[in-house]
Amino acid sequence: MQYRRMGHTGLQLSALSFGAWVTFGTAVGRGQARELLSVAHDHGINFFDNAETYNNGIAEQIMGDVLADLRLPRDSYCVSSKVFFGAYKHPLPTQRGLSRKHVVDACHQALQRLRVDYLDLYFCHRPDPDTPIAETVHAMDDLIRQGKVLYWGTSEWSAEQIKCAAKIARDRGLYGPVVEQPQYNLVHRDKVELEFAPLYDEIGLGTTIWSPLASGLLTGKYVDGIPDDSRLATEGYEWLQKWVFGDQKELRRKQTLEYLALAKEVGHSPATLAIAWCLKNPNVSTVLLGASRREQLEENLKAIDILDDLDRDLTARMEAIFKR
Ligand SMILES: NC(=O)c1ccc[n+]([C@@H]2O[C@H](COP(=O)([O-])OP(=O)(O)OC[C@H]3O[C@@H](n4cnc5c(N)ncnc54)[C@H](OP(=O)(O)O)[C@@H]3O)[C@@H](O)[C@H]2O)c1
Repeated sequence: MQYRRMGHTGLQLSALSFGAWVTFGTAVGRGQARELLSVAHDHGINFFDNAETYNNGIAEQIMGDVLADLRLPRDSYCVSSKVFFGAYKHPLPTQRGLSRKHVVDACHQALQRLRVDYLDLYFCHRPDPDTPIAETVHAMDDLIRQGKVLYWGTSEWSAEQIKCAAKIARDRGLYGPVVEQPQYNLVHRDKVELEFAPLYDEIGLGTTIWSPLASGLLTGKYVDGIPDDSRLATEGYEWLQKWVFGDQKELRRKQTLEYLALAKEVGHSPATLAIAWCLKNPNVSTVLLGASRREQLEENLKAIDILDDLDRDLTARMEAIFKR
């Protein structure tokens, strides 16, 4: 495993990390979660990502039970939660958003579910147009001073919103955001490569990037339709199909086929290659993996070993396929 500083902080995250979205509490029960988390930890992964909203808190509960059961030393791993969407199917107004009340309540609930005394990372899962950014910054600062959170950040905020939060923190002597969790993969590149570009130096922003395989698209598993046991067939996640294919289903299919041929030519699995491509970006602190089976995780972990194979020529060819 490689370890990278999270932006300008001193926190060393494993370059590959592991998250629980969709999987924990649906395809992945406690037994399998135990297997996945222990394979991940054995391979040097030290960051496990979660959120209040993942399966309405069940994903955090499963992760907390497994972490306790595995008896991993608390100083050997980092765990995160995210606040915004709430942990209920139909949250009440005080059970969602980024108000001081919900940020604090959600932190306490995540600590209980994850069975830890503090969260290493705590993310604002989306911007909240109904809460002043200053209120959220103060709430995060309080949680850090109380020892309940070590670092806080954002997910899918705009560069402007992050800059605004950082300025409020700087002007008022508060702990500001130090990390953002954006989507980043061969299909979605703009936010990480263009919009956030000034922030890596200006505020020392780290990134924990999500969906390196575009929810499995880049494995090629969807070129002949949607397999019954795949994420896009999961009950309750039908909306994801639109997210993954966009309005250009046929184009995505053609691009994927071309990408599969390239992966075959260079002798790597398409998943491993796509994850390695994300890792080549020095502004990526860690690539969050998702897996519903042990074999997937083991395949994806190989990305760390093939970085030298991604020279300029191969990288350019991969990018050209998805540029159109
Ligand atoms: N902040 C946010 O808004 C946000 C949003 C999304 C995700 N995240 C975080 O990022 C983590 C990773 O995102 P992600 O799960 O979307 O990552 P991903 O790598 O794009 O997708 C992972 C899914 O693809 C399939 N897969 C993975 N490896 C495979 C392989 N080698 N062969 C075939 N299929 C494979 C599995 O689904 P199936 O087997 O079920 O098809 C797996 O669950 C999440 O767990 C979560 O912690 C954050």
